[in-house]
Amino acid sequence: MGLFSSTKSKKIKPAKAVNGSIQLPGDKSISHRYAMLGAIAEGRTEIHFFSSSADCESTLACLGKLGVSVERKENVVTFDGVGLRGLRSPREVLDAGNSGSTMRMLTGILAGQPFRSVIRGDASLSRRPMQRVIDPLARMGARIKSAEEARPPLEIEGGALQPIHYELPVASAQVKSAVLFAGLYADGETEVVEPMATRDHTEIALEQMGVEIGRHRQTVSVRGPARLQGTTVHIPGDISSAAFFLAAALLVPQSNLVIQNIGLNPTRTAILDLLSPMGGDIRVLNVERLHGELIGDLHAESSRLEGGEIPPGLIPRLIDELPVLAVLGTQTEKGLSFRGAAELRVKESDRLAAVAENLRRMGAEVEESADGLRVAGRQALRGAEVESYGDHRIAMAFAVAALVAQGTTLIRGSDCVDVSFPGFFDVLARVT
Ligand code: S3P
Repeated sequence: MGLFSSTKSKKIKPAKAVNGSIQLPGDKSISHRYAMLGAIAEGRTEIHFFSSSADCESTLACLGKLGVSVERKENVVTFDGVGLRGLRSPREVLDAGNSGSTMRMLTGILAGQPFRSVIRGDASLSRRPMQRVIDPLARMGARIKSAEEARPPLEIEGGALQPIHYELPVASAQVKSAVLFAGLYADGETEVVEPMATRDHTEIALEQMGVEIGRHRQTVSVRGPARLQGTTVHIPGDISSAAFFLAAALLVPQSNLVIQNIGLNPTRTAILDLLSPMGGDIRVLNVERLHGELIGDLHAESSRLEGGEIPPGLIPRLIDELPVLAVLGTQTEKGLSFRGAAELRVKESDRLAAVAENLRRMGAEVEESADGLRVAGRQALRGAEVESYGDHRIAMAFAVAALVAQGTTLIRGSDCVDVSFPGFFDVLARVT
């Protein structure tokens, strides 16, 4: 697929205001989990507002190759689960595309299968580290081969698994999920200890499907072999996509924006915890709990933002929002800095380097360290040619930068936004 050899570019002009009321695609993280878990459940699963992302499309395509017949009508995905032991040996290589979540989490399920499977990804995913899932899954009894330095593709020889007690060396919801998914197949109790709390959509989805989950402090446990019940679920809007619009509304003068039905799971809302005390005029309205997840509307207006340092404890809960927060930092009074985010170097691109380079092209001052960035405040950005580096969150973060710059910005490789948010530029055009 040509997404990342793309030469498509997008021109963005400064905005006078960001106004309106918008609804964003369903959460990508939650959609992946219900698709994978519904596949190994018993009975029918119906997922409403399933994410329109290319990443979640990759997950559905892999499940199709494993023998799950998925029906999709607009944003509703429906299928009959095949049960814990019902997946079929794939005749072809599974393709995770650009999606780290698909590769890492599905590997947890594949580790429990009595067959061999191979999963690969695009050029960006092929550079990303997989040792973090290979280690625990190998300890559980799976045999996993990889390319050099534990990079994809992965060849997984699954089979009977033993439960483990595993202390995650990195705070990663994908790895936590992979081990819990494998734990569904192991005979006994699998325990995962997190160094810092990460998103808990896997735990919630499992509970919704009738699996008992142990949660004590930083330890999550599951007892296998488990039985999952198919379910009907409504996926909340993706707060990581909302982050770009929130930032735009706060930064552009005269803005007044409502974002409806957004997921407000506290393990994902650190961006709100950070921006509100800095002066961000963000109101959370109509909050309710839906299928175990909090959901509500966000209302944001132009604000004078103080800036400051992002506490390291917040980092895992706003990891995907850091690129746009760095952009936002240039427009704060005191600037913005953070450390403890070395993980950003192994995302879809090296996000620390990508953000620093693009900000410099727009005339901003930025200091890059091994695990963080420091941007000065009150900086005038100027329109420039920037690169997406094939990374959706970089393309969207710099679309926001372009709204507050002087002159036009050209984002090269802009169509990678489809990875998480097809239609992003149309929604942006509608509100600006
Ligand atoms: C995700 C977890 C995070 C995040 C990614 C989605 C998930 O990755 O960056 O976009 O759905 O579990 P890590 O688990 O690698 O931190």
